Amino acid sequence: MQKNENSRAVLLTGGAGYIGSHIAVELAAAGKQTVIVDNLRNASEDALRGIAEITGSEPVFYRVDARDKDAMREIVKCHGIADVIHLAGLKSVAESTKEPLEYYNVNLGTTLTLLEVLLESGEGRIIFSSSATVYGIPDHVPVTEEAIAGRCFNPYGRTKYFNEQIINDVVAASEGKLSAVLLRYFNPIGAHPSGLIGEVPTGVPNNLMPYITQVAAGKREKLYIYGNDYETRDGTGVRDYIHVVDLARGHVKALEWLESHGKGKVEIFNLGTGQGRSVLEIVETFQRVNNIKIPYEFAPRRPGDIAEYYADPSKAERELGWRAELSLEDMCRDAWNAEKTLQSRAKKG
Ligand code: NAD
Ligand code: WQD
Repeated sequence: MQKNENSRAVLLTGGAGYIGSHIAVELAAAGKQTVIVDNLRNASEDALRGIAEITGSEPVFYRVDARDKDAMREIVKCHGIADVIHLAGLKSVAESTKEPLEYYNVNLGTTLTLLEVLLESGEGRIIFSSSATVYGIPDHVPVTEEAIAGRCFNPYGRTKYFNEQIINDVVAASEGKLSAVLLRYFNPIGAHPSGLIGEVPTGVPNNLMPYITQVAAGKREKLYIYGNDYETRDGTGVRDYIHVVDLARGHVKALEWLESHGKGKVEIFNLGTGQGRSVLEIVETFQRVNNIKIPYEFAPRRPGDIAEYYADPSKAERELGWRAELSLEDMCRDAWNAEKTLQSRAKKG
């Protein structure tokens, strides 16, 4: 490894994944150098090629498990890393109930290693990918950052909450060496408008938008809408869907905030649009903007689902100067464009 004296790159763990690849693009747009660490457990080098095509330069990439302390120490030292956006981890709620130990091992292990390595190096600013799932069933909507957290229903959600607590404790004890922003994402969907990066689930998608795009592509026969008897405007579940490009831009703003205002602090921000949308509204919008029919059938509620939640994103607007700009139409159009583009590239090999 060559020591790079001139640049202070941003380390992006999980940077070949769905959200991470979009953050890599936005970091490049903000003129920041990026070092990606990803073990490709849920991603492929195609994402790195997509990032390179969009930004015009190859990202620095290490195929490394973020729990590998020696490798992480070396990368931090070599690139003079102080800024880290930490996304590496496992994200399936359903899988986490079947393999809780693996989820605790990976999701907590990556964070512990990162904190240890940054403490050893003497400084660190961490942006952590948390989730609105830490709010469990919120007492009221829109959900502010002050809402009670930790009432999670599943091991995945608990790993997010435990990570938040660990980061709090370690920053507090670090005598100003570390600081952190915990970003609680609502429901990221969509893709970069180029279609060169996007969400590429392996197996049957758990989440709504990738399922819809696979129905649109003819890979699945129809969408099953889980529950039409919720106390919501049309009976289907309501969520705060946010364009992944807006979400990625929120990370750049959070990093800038951490550099200028965050020393020694841990601050939490919701990243959402502030608008709740029902499953039927998503289906209707997808059909309209893409001119494609999505056959669907109502099915029983999915265990663990809640009726409705959406963010109060005003803290991020006030303090980070960030707000979501892209519309639901953009999300649906870009998700479908990426499905088609990535599919045709995969066929060409
Ligand atoms: P993703 O699976 O596409 O990205 C995660 C990346 O981490 C993958 O590229 C995977 O290969 C990598 N990875 C997994 N274990 C690793 C390890 N031990 N070492 C190095 N790399 C490893 O998921 P995503 O949707 O991009 O999510 C990114 C982060 O955001 C995750 O932490 C996730 O929990 C969080 N999050 C996602 C959502 C969502 O709806 N997608 C919502 C809230 C929070
Ligand atoms: C959205 C709505 C479903 C699929 C999950 C995680 C959460 C966070 C984001 C990481 C719900 C309905 C879905 C389908 C459907 N991830 N739906 N048919 O459940 O809000 O959040 O992803 O942190 O932790 O729990 O997102 O996209 O799965 O569901 O009707 O085939 O779509 O019931 O109302 P969810 P989702």
